[in-house]
Amino acid sequence: MIFEETYTLSNGVKIPKLGLGTWFIADDQVAAAIGSAVKLGYRHIDTAQAYENERGVGEGIRSCGVSRKELFITTKLAAEIKTYEEAIKAIDGSLEKLGIDYIDLMLIHSPQPWNDFRGGDYAEGNREAWRALEDAYKVGKLRAIGVSNFKEQDIENILSSCTVAPMVNQLLVHIGNTPIKLMEYCRQKDILVEAYSPVAHGEILKSPEVATIAEKYQVTVPQLCIRYDLQLGTVPLPKTSNPKHMSDNTKVDFMISDEDMEILKQMKPLKNYGEFSKFPVFSGK
Ligand SMILES: NC(=O)c1ccc[n+]([C@@H]2O[C@H](COP(=O)([O-])OP(=O)(O)OC[C@H]3O[C@@H](n4cnc5c(N)ncnc54)[C@H](OP(=O)(O)O)[C@@H]3O)[C@@H](O)[C@H]2O)c1
Repeated sequence: MIFEETYTLSNGVKIPKLGLGTWFIADDQVAAAIGSAVKLGYRHIDTAQAYENERGVGEGIRSCGVSRKELFITTKLAAEIKTYEEAIKAIDGSLEKLGIDYIDLMLIHSPQPWNDFRGGDYAEGNREAWRALEDAYKVGKLRAIGVSNFKEQDIENILSSCTVAPMVNQLLVHIGNTPIKLMEYCRQKDILVEAYSPVAHGEILKSPEVATIAEKYQVTVPQLCIRYDLQLGTVPLPKTSNPKHMSDNTKVDFMISDEDMEILKQMKPLKNYGEFSKFPVFSGK
């Protein structure tokens, strides 16, 4: 059963292997989604300052019926914040909006602000934002800290000056987009990779090739996608507010053969992400 499974981060903190994504779940709907997810056994919720639903996530934490300490809550520092003072303020802002005393995992959302994704040099700003995460970690406001969308050089920049190394890198990892070299680099640095958009934001549901492999295992495409990310050793974060989909996404007790894993790793990239291609994370950069 997937809900009994955890990874252990480099600082010893345990993280549930399957999380619930909440991007595009509105602030006034996310508490209900968390309630449904927790009933099914989910304990790991992924949000971000940028999703503008931290208040609702907090409401979900308080109303879901399990104690705070049973849950694993991740949020992300807004990509635009690249100074120490602003980062400290924003971390406290997240704690306040969520209405909790500590956050289990906080990530720098992106090495660059979204309007300059993979653009200019924010090395110093990232080191400053990181210093703020470290300080919040050291006083117990955050149980673990990490990054998202960071490439090798972005991580090297943090490692060059940090006193606490990143424990997580959250990346776009799905069938058709498997950044093998970057994932291997993270593994060597003891950084756990979390897989965002494991179902390619829904776009992969249109792929006949992936559907054929899912049929072979008598599973749905999202189940194949989630299992794929688990077998890569990552933390899949499928997003849904539909309880039926939430339930389907937990039925991943099957094994993809080594041969099929290789086929899936080599699967050609999706042509695009449809109407969502406009988001920097789906820009292919
Ligand atoms: N760090 C970053 O920069 C970053 C970027 C993107 C995402 N993320 C995180 O990763 C999470 C997931 O990524 P995502 O939201 O882009 O997309 P995703 O989880 O790959 O895909 C979500 C889409 O798949 C559908 N879906 C999910 N399970 C399904 C099922 N069992 N059957 C049919 N359809 C299903 C959902 O539809 P329904 O809602 O109708 O079920 C939704 O349209 C986000 O919510 C967020 O927490 C992080």
